[in-house]
Amino acid sequence: MKFTVMTLFPEMVLSGLNTSIIGRAVKAGIISIDAVNIRDYTNDKHKHVDDYPYGGGAGMVMMAEPVYRCYLDVTGKSGETGAEGTKDSSENESKKRVIYLTPQGKTFNQAMAREFAKEEELIFLCGHYEGVDERVIEEIVTDEVSIGDYVLSGGELPAMVMIDAIARMVPGVLTNEESAINESFEGNLLEYPQYTRPEEWKGKKVPDVLLSGHHANIEKWRREKQIEKTLKVRPELLENAELSRKDEIYLEKLKNSIKS
Ligand code: 6GU
Repeated sequence: MKFTVMTLFPEMVLSGLNTSIIGRAVKAGIISIDAVNIRDYTNDKHKHVDDYPYGGGAGMVMMAEPVYRCYLDVTGKSGETGAEGTKDSSENESKKRVIYLTPQGKTFNQAMAREFAKEEELIFLCGHYEGVDERVIEEIVTDEVSIGDYVLSGGELPAMVMIDAIARMVPGVLTNEESAINESFEGNLLEYPQYTRPEEWKGKKVPDVLLSGHHANIEKWRREKQIEKTLKVRPELLENAELSRKDEIYLEKLKNSIKS
């Protein structure tokens, strides 16, 4: 799978994704990550990429033309610009998805990561300043995505977040063992707590059941901890959680113990 990021800060994107699991996948050739500098596509000698907003107001807006020229280069299109009707014939053939990172987008989640991972190639557009000229968004963007309800300085961190989450869903990126861990969130439950040596730390002991070697009891305990944690911090997830009859009974028991 190929990820291409159109950005004013290509080194930020590349340096953030060259370690750990994603870095390993790049080195193994399972995925590739390119970052292209929008500033390389300006026409003027001062390399301006932004200008004042029409209608006034604070901040600057990224200009349509450098973003569009960057897009044409990245997608290998001919580069005809301007009036309608001069678009090259390859335009209709390209089904490449272009994701614009913006707080005005749909909120990213695991289901979206799974869907995006089915694509062969994804192109990300990172905005800066107060935004990007709406006309180039209309012209090239297929998906507008946010990573949550807070404001960031640019689309680079959101693009990195999305690439990490999407790449993990690409076959071969995770080992079998890592995949098993990944799948647990898919049931819409939070994770159970983990412990490693030593058996006692600062007077806190590892729960006895985990030292018992009794696998069925361990599994039951972990499942219960998942349900407890989810009920406590993300109760809304339980509405879409995959719960067995036993899980439901335990959940009811927990809810009743909170009430009393
Ligand atoms: Cl995608 N961009 C920016 N600038 N801020 C955000 C965001 C995106 N998602 C959440 N906050």
